[in-house]
Amino acid sequence: MFDATPDGHVDAGRLRPPPLPPAGMRDEVLAGLLATPKTLSPKYFYDERGSRLFERICRLPEYYPTVTETAILSDRRAEIADTLGRRAAIVEYGSGSSEKIRILLDALDDPAAYVPVDISRRHLEQSAARLASAYPGLPIHPLAADFTQAFSLPDLPGRPVGFFPGSTIGNFTPGQAAAFLKTAGRTLGPGSTFVVGFDLVKDRTVLETAYNDSQGVTAAFNLNALAHLNRELGCDFPLDAFAHVAWFNPKESRIEMHLKARHPLTVRVAGAVVRFREGETIHTENSYKYTPARIRALAAGAGWTVRRLWTDARPWFAVVALSR
Ligand code: AVJ
Repeated sequence: MFDATPDGHVDAGRLRPPPLPPAGMRDEVLAGLLATPKTLSPKYFYDERGSRLFERICRLPEYYPTVTETAILSDRRAEIADTLGRRAAIVEYGSGSSEKIRILLDALDDPAAYVPVDISRRHLEQSAARLASAYPGLPIHPLAADFTQAFSLPDLPGRPVGFFPGSTIGNFTPGQAAAFLKTAGRTLGPGSTFVVGFDLVKDRTVLETAYNDSQGVTAAFNLNALAHLNRELGCDFPLDAFAHVAWFNPKESRIEMHLKARHPLTVRVAGAVVRFREGETIHTENSYKYTPARIRALAAGAGWTVRRLWTDARPWFAVVALSR
């Protein structure tokens, strides 16, 4: 790795080794890949390329969650604004491209601030800059953080309101989701509101088609996690040795995504050796599908109450306002 001078030439005097990966990432990745069955956290999808691939997923005809949730937010914006009240300081978990928040910002009564939290720093900064030019009077405080860990908020004007759209909460197991909601409750503080998007249980074919699109964008997104590891940890995963697979697990009420070894192989991962049998998989993502009853039980177990629950007509997706 090297620094280029502003005119684009490489200054050999400044050649330096790549920055060491954060030790936490190495340990976490290695522990998952040495376990049986092998696992990898879905947060490793989201390097810059992965964030762009996810945006393409959101525009796929098969991927109903984004359009459905966006329609709910838009159709119900007056009720949502009413529920959140004036001077809301919005903290968005996993803000991505910060598109959905515009619907709320346009409807809210005098929003006080916007805090986008995302693990992909470059993407976060670009999205925050775009939003800042669209909302010139709004204080914006981007926070590059892994929201699966506790983080602290800057001092904010107004009342903290959490926003966690997209059904990203479905990446957590129910136990992890409860722990996350408790932590978020502490972060946002007493009396806060949390708006969360949940994908709902529905026809199995609809679910499985959404995660096996005909253009192969979801496959590229899944495989990109390995490209990310190759770059950040110096691994040597051959991407063409793995196939994208995704199916609905009705017992757990979740879509599972895996990367399946097409043949036996050995990979070097941060100084260790990881062996794959033919057909062995890395479990890269869970995407839990809820019912309204399960949403209420989850919230109650984490110290929140469901104040409002909005769905589309089918109903395929739920936007929930929690309060504590
Ligand atoms: C961002 C976690 C909501 O689970 O549907 C999309 C990620 N994975 N296609 C989801 C995803 C494959 C997405 N979430």
